Amino acid sequence: MGTTARRVILALCASSSGAAGLQIPFLSPTSQTPVQVANDTKPLINSTAIQELISGERLMVRAKKMFEIAKLGESEYNHPTRVIGSAGHLGTLNYIYETILQLGDYYTISNQSFPAVSGNVYESRLVLGNHVSKSAAPMGLTPPTKDKQPVHGDVVLVKNDGCAYSDYPAEVAGNIAFILRGTCPFGTKSEHAGRAGAVAAIVYNYEKDNVQGTLGNPSPFHVATFGLSGEEAEPIIKKLKNKDRVDAIAYIDAEVKSILTVNIIAQTTQGDPDNCVMLGGHSDSVAEGPGINDDGTGTMSLLEVATQLTKFSVNNCVRFAWWAGEEEGLLGSDYYIYSLPAVENKKIRLFMDYDMMASPNFAYQIYNATNAVNPTGSEELRDLYIDWYTKQGLNYTFIPFDGRSDYDGFIRNGVPGGGIATGAEGIKTKKEEKMFGGKAGEWYDPCYHQLCDNVGNVNEKAWVVNTKLIAHSVATYARSFKGFPKRSSLTASSIYDRQTKYHGSKLFI
Ligand SMILES: *[C@@H]1O[C@H](CO)[C@@H](O)[C@H](O)[C@H]1NC(C)=O
Ligand SMILES: *[C@@H]1O[C@H](CO)[C@@H](O)[C@H](O)[C@H]1NC(C)=O
Ligand SMILES: *[C@@H]1O[C@H](CO)[C@@H](O)[C@H](O)[C@H]1NC(C)=O
Ligand SMILES: *[C@@H]1O[C@H](CO)[C@@H](O)[C@H](O)[C@H]1NC(C)=O
Ligand SMILES: *[C@@H]1O[C@H](CO)[C@@H](O)[C@H](O)[C@H]1NC(C)=O
Ligand SMILES: [Zn+2]
Repeated sequence: MGTTARRVILALCASSSGAAGLQIPFLSPTSQTPVQVANDTKPLINSTAIQELISGERLMVRAKKMFEIAKLGESEYNHPTRVIGSAGHLGTLNYIYETILQLGDYYTISNQSFPAVSGNVYESRLVLGNHVSKSAAPMGLTPPTKDKQPVHGDVVLVKNDGCAYSDYPAEVAGNIAFILRGTCPFGTKSEHAGRAGAVAAIVYNYEKDNVQGTLGNPSPFHVATFGLSGEEAEPIIKKLKNKDRVDAIAYIDAEVKSILTVNIIAQTTQGDPDNCVMLGGHSDSVAEGPGINDDGTGTMSLLEVATQLTKFSVNNCVRFAWWAGEEEGLLGSDYYIYSLPAVENKKIRLFMDYDMMASPNFAYQIYNATNAVNPTGSEELRDLYIDWYTKQGLNYTFIPFDGRSDYDGFIRNGVPGGGIATGAEGIKTKKEEKMFGGKAGEWYDPCYHQLCDNVGNVNEKAWVVNTKLIAHSVATYARSFKGFPKRSSLTASSIYDRQTKYHGSKLFI
């Protein structure tokens, strides 16, 4: 993804009305030293004190409000949703903006609008030989088949892993390319298949499992593309290698839309603006449901911590972000960090990601961010979470820090990062049932990316615990960065590059 192109189209917008002194916290030549508000007598931020202000009651009031907002999406989607471009998402943005605006001049708020692509698959089917495929899943951001109608063709095996155009035999033209997963992104394979004249493409797994992937940034050469399980692919590969013919019918009715959407950034007017604590959650949901846990909870935890923080003074600046387009592939957070000039990047001492704070069948999960793989400081942040859960007498687990949420762009641009989560479509183990309660053998969030991710889908206890921990993380660094490593690099280690297969919730490679 190009960074220079993004920089050119960066658009920031700050209000001249509303609370006095609203200003852009970065990129503005006049904003190096925010005007200090009158020396008020607020006590210095204190972790214990701000944690005591976090209550489940207040969070649940916000959750109910968030669900009402998601219902605004019903007119277009026939069910509640806060997906980018929907009225539910616009309502969420207004709610965030208004909540911060009401806190007066404690924060400066800015809207960062950016172009985003949003894909919807309305219907799809893949028939292989004489049976309908069970595992075939249309890739995120796939185009439809021609005229949104079924297309017919022979399945044609592509050589190697389909990462070079020369891997695609001439017979691919007018037929369906059958490509092994791996080495290069799904988007590259789909593009090669399209250039070679395929009417559709299938990327089959090297493992038994299904492939839930995304093509990423649209290309005019992309063709309708499915992911297929290795299990279903095996007999087909056998036939093709025997020179037996396999015909197929592929059908995808889908649409890829380009829209403008908005990141909202709020920064304390007080505190050292050259040393910022940054944290974020994502304001959008998937199209399938209201996203109250994913990531309504992170969004609302941030709003609540931002609200309670105003009762204190801070030594270091605190910058909250509500990203848009996370579900389309981390679009908002990528846009923000890749378009930030180096001098501004270095003012961010760390970035903390808060995505899915209250899964119903939760585990207290800490991203296994280490200094060996991630920018120095990531491990110190990881240890802050460990220490806190330990002091509370709570169990925790480590989870891979592999690009599944908005921290990815920060890590790739040298900003130390980390965060906590409570689990998505992973399965709780027997051991974890003993550690956290809940039910082994089931997803941490059985409503992940579904219609039932509503108010009833949040575990209030876990939400309170994690919001207190968010408050603790903010309090600790807003008070002092003593002992926390200074910023150095502006890039990720090559190890991170190699280990990362996700970009958002979907695989891209
Ligand atoms: C920023 O975005 C919010 C939410 O969409 C909107 O309510 C507000 O008017 C916008 N402010 C400016 C200055 O554009
Ligand atoms: C700000 O207020 C605090 C607490 O009242 C006081 O100790 C401090 O001296 C004041 N600082 C300035 C610069 O007036
Ligand atoms: C923080 O606040 C708690 C009360 O909530 C108080 O007992 C404690 O002394 C405070 N700590 C500091 C360092 O001010
Ligand atoms: C955490 O990551 C490090 C590599 O940085 C690895 O050595 C360690 O095994 C990981 N721990 C867990 C529990 O995944
Ligand atoms: C932590 O996990 C252990 C089992 O490993 C369990 O016995 C204990 O009750 C758990 N603690 C809490 C607070 O759930
Ligand atoms: Zn999420």
